[in-house]
Amino acid sequence: MMARVPSASGSALDPRARPIGVFDSGVGGLTVLHELLVALPHEDFLYLGDTRRFPYGERSPGELSRFSAEIAEELLRRGSKLLVVACNSATAAALPELGRRMMETTLGVDVLGVLRPEALRAVAATRSGRIGLLATPATVASGAYEQAIAVIDSHVTVHAIACPTLATIIQAGEEYGERAVAAVREVCAPLRAAGVDTVILGCTHYPLIRPMLQRMLGPGVTLVSSGAALARQVEHALSTRALQNARSGEGDYRFLCTGDVRSFRELGTRFLQMPLGDVEHVELAEIGAAA
Ligand code: DGL
Repeated sequence: MMARVPSASGSALDPRARPIGVFDSGVGGLTVLHELLVALPHEDFLYLGDTRRFPYGERSPGELSRFSAEIAEELLRRGSKLLVVACNSATAAALPELGRRMMETTLGVDVLGVLRPEALRAVAATRSGRIGLLATPATVASGAYEQAIAVIDSHVTVHAIACPTLATIIQAGEEYGERAVAAVREVCAPLRAAGVDTVILGCTHYPLIRPMLQRMLGPGVTLVSSGAALARQVEHALSTRALQNARSGEGDYRFLCTGDVRSFRELGTRFLQMPLGDVEHVELAEIGAAA
């Protein structure tokens, strides 16, 4: 069952029946959506992949904040009851500001990001107090993980490695070959040298190369990704706000993307490990203005 989400107007009377909006620059956020679909089977989801402006990892904080605000508004216009930023680069640049804005300017819709649940998990997992971070250049430059971790435990050190090519290699959807192996080896080497015992996969694309990362970092290293922890946070947010969907059967999920619809569907089906159904092309104002 897929690709049927109640419209904003159709569900206006019962906020619980509205979908949860999720977004990323591309297919990486599907690793988060996958966990949400498993943990919250009764909910409807609306996923937006901003593939036209991918990669976010090379964007400035200003651009990422603008893109995030524009996408959040589109997802709210389509009736979302809660927003999940399934992109570390956007979370690092746009939260908590985006959350404040959505609270003030809308009917109090909450925005949850991937960074905090991962930081909490990583601190809980480390024994040595040395955590590695693999993330896009934008996320590493933001220092957001260091800040989040310092609040949780100031004795923990973070070894951050900016990975300029990993998300692009994954998003290209080609068979992994020498280029992918060399790129993974290069980013893992400094973390091995630093002796970290826990590594944060600080980009939602990276769980898609988890086996390669685990092999090159070694079996003793704990890899932390955001999906499962974030799913629990979403569950908590829905129940404390009395927004859980009241149905007993399975919910629906639907996809929007700003770039090529066919390649999103092909790649997305593989990465979500579930059928995608129809993907709707969406034009956002800023993209239109830049074209
Ligand atoms: N998946 C996105 C993240 O979590 C970024 C990939 C990109 O657009 O560079 O940061």
